[in-house]
Amino acid sequence: MSSYIELKNISHSFQLNQEKVTLFDELNLSIVQGQSYAITGPSGAGKSSLLMLMSGLEQPTTGQGLYVKAGQSASLDALRADIGFIFQQFHLLAELTALNNVALPLKLRGDKQALEKARTWLTKVGLSHRINHKPSELSGGEQQRVAIARALVFEPSFIFADEPTGNLDQTSATEIADILFACCQENNAGLVVVTHSDILANRAQHIFSLADGQYSQQSKQALQVAAC
Ligand SMILES: Nc1ncnc2c1ncn2[C@@H]1O[C@H](COP(=O)(O)OP(=O)(O)OP(=O)(O)O)[C@@H](O)[C@H]1O
Ligand SMILES: [Mg+2]
Repeated sequence: MSSYIELKNISHSFQLNQEKVTLFDELNLSIVQGQSYAITGPSGAGKSSLLMLMSGLEQPTTGQGLYVKAGQSASLDALRADIGFIFQQFHLLAELTALNNVALPLKLRGDKQALEKARTWLTKVGLSHRINHKPSELSGGEQQRVAIARALVFEPSFIFADEPTGNLDQTSATEIADILFACCQENNAGLVVVTHSDILANRAQHIFSLADGQYSQQSKQALQVAAC
């Protein structure tokens, strides 16, 4: 039975001085394990904020988030152990090598095979020759690969990626997307990608567009034409 995340009637707003900024109003959506989703929309539309809400890393102003696993419903706090998050700015630990950055989530779980598994995942993302390099000794694309390996190494049920190809040239972006989609498929993980790229969005099974607080499903056909 697939796990899923459900957001029900989510509203999210910020109070800035005298002004209330509303990002979403009464938003409903589901994210199912094993499926892939892209969230697109203009800068400032609230894509990163939505990713934080659906992953349970932040709380909405009102509304309910549920994590349904093996038919049992829990709050999104229960998701913590089952998600990998790939941040736009990587958030790798500067003083650790690529190997130790990837091994860290496993070590924190007390996994005795942490280093061995980390090495396997770094090889999967094409970085076996860079395992002893620190982040400052890696290119942007290589750091992104380390971040992907770190997010996937403990085989989470859901992966959230914020602009995973944002700073990369088209060839590197394609390689990173290939790795991300293939690894999620291999693990049967749900994948949610925030992106400005129509090409990347079009690889997902479901595309959602966010604009003016409204969330709508977009036709893949329309994006295909736009991407050509
Ligand atoms: N903690 C906060 N307090 C006040 N406003 C905030 C806060 N966090 C985000 N915002 C505002 O919410 C809006 C949406 O931000 P968000 O980062 O989610 O946008 P985005 O769609 O990811 O944009 P981009 O494509 O540029 O990354 C922005 O206008 C931002 O200034
Ligand atoms: Mg953003």
